Amino acid sequence: MSPLETAARSLGAALLVFAIAPLSRAQSSAQSVPDQVTFARDVAPILQRACQNCHRPGSIGPMSLLTYQDARPWARSLKQQVVQRNMPPWYIDRTVGIQQFKNDAALSDREIAIISKWVDLGAPLGNPADLPAPRQFDDSDRWHIGKPDVVVTLKKEVLVKGRAADQWLDLDMQDLGLKTNRYIQAMEIKPIKGVKVVHHVESTLIDPDDESPAGRQHLEEYAVGKYGDSFPEGTGMLLKPGAHILANTHVHSDGEDTTVNLAIALKLYPENVVPKHIAHAQQLGSAGDLDIRPNMKNVRADGYTVLPKPAVITAFQPHMHNRGQAQCLELIYPIMSGGERPGAVRTEMASCVDRFKFDWHVVYEYADDVAPIVPAGTILHVISLYDNTTGNKFNPDPTNWVGWGNRTIDEMGFSWINWYYLTDDEYKQAIAARQAKARKTSASLQ
Ligand code: HEC
Repeated sequence: MSPLETAARSLGAALLVFAIAPLSRAQSSAQSVPDQVTFARDVAPILQRACQNCHRPGSIGPMSLLTYQDARPWARSLKQQVVQRNMPPWYIDRTVGIQQFKNDAALSDREIAIISKWVDLGAPLGNPADLPAPRQFDDSDRWHIGKPDVVVTLKKEVLVKGRAADQWLDLDMQDLGLKTNRYIQAMEIKPIKGVKVVHHVESTLIDPDDESPAGRQHLEEYAVGKYGDSFPEGTGMLLKPGAHILANTHVHSDGEDTTVNLAIALKLYPENVVPKHIAHAQQLGSAGDLDIRPNMKNVRADGYTVLPKPAVITAFQPHMHNRGQAQCLELIYPIMSGGERPGAVRTEMASCVDRFKFDWHVVYEYADDVAPIVPAGTILHVISLYDNTTGNKFNPDPTNWVGWGNRTIDEMGFSWINWYYLTDDEYKQAIAARQAKARKTSASLQ
């Protein structure tokens, strides 16, 4: 059998695994909500887990939800935001594709029902003795990847003049101070000064032994609402001593002179640990040309990238600007039948974000058991939809034609994809292991 035929035969297993994923959500929503719902007993634990990291003094949320006194005036708005699934920010389409994620921030149906009922009952406190102990936050919480091993800032802060055109600045980060080869397990970059004028940052890792384009690879991106990338256990990105980080920073003046500084945090594998696979994080499936006419919605653009080797796709993060409406990642598998006859191509929708919001660049990290394992030759097909009407409240000007461009008022369409390659043998083993697991799961469901 050719490698492609082997691949084709294994696809059935992948489909099966996707198909059983939504069950766990359905099961969790079946549990009933108590007749009496109080803040102290029922609501506070949900806010602690799912909201307070952002909704506390000094964090990014517009108000604190730490105490009953803080939350009570927001009761109506809380209900509305959670029922509409606007909060917490998690915009994956719940009816399509993979439904298990490592960093799933969504509330369960039951949690939403609890908050909703609490508000309908007049938002009572209940018995203060039921309140959980306050959640403890320390500063390392502010790095979403966990406690970093290395943090460096810009070599020199920059001043962004109050009135200037959009600029893309290449800024040097401080030396990482590494003595030996290390591997990155997780990374996060963000502005620590002048947040409001930083549109995005794209950092590049420059090989100390090769400063040519070949020695440069994309490292980490920042955009509002993005909280770093964590690679799955056993995968990582190589960091040589003397490696240099360049931060290409898009700044957007807002009328006031503003000083900008950035910090990048890295979590590293311990010294002498070499992960089995190299992790990649890049923009793929770029649509290229865009033609978004005034007052039109559901304007579609398609982009394609082919993977030359078998791979595991570990995360999906849509990227568009203000007219972005929805984006999907479809997998187009290589041709199924060999020989001379025309063959069918099988496609599978991995994920969609049905309500894209430019303010929330969420990385959706697939759970290990369902991360797509794809054969060599798989095409990643990124489908983007745009809304250039007044119905899109983020639209700066629905009367304008919009094309591809770097400025915030232009558009883009691609996904940030995290993945790692497998050898042909590893691919076969990974598929076999997943098939065995799927058989076990389906047997236990009967
Ligand atoms: C990742 C950070 C983050 C998390 C987690 C989060 N929020 Fe928010 N929330 C924000 C930010 C930032 C805004 C303002 C911008 C926006 O609406 O997107 C906001 C806005 C809101 C608003 C609207 C406030 C207004 O001005 O009307 C409500 C209500 C809200 N959040 C409730 C919640 C609840 C309830 C949870 C947990 C179930 C939650 N949020 C989780 C960051 C967060």
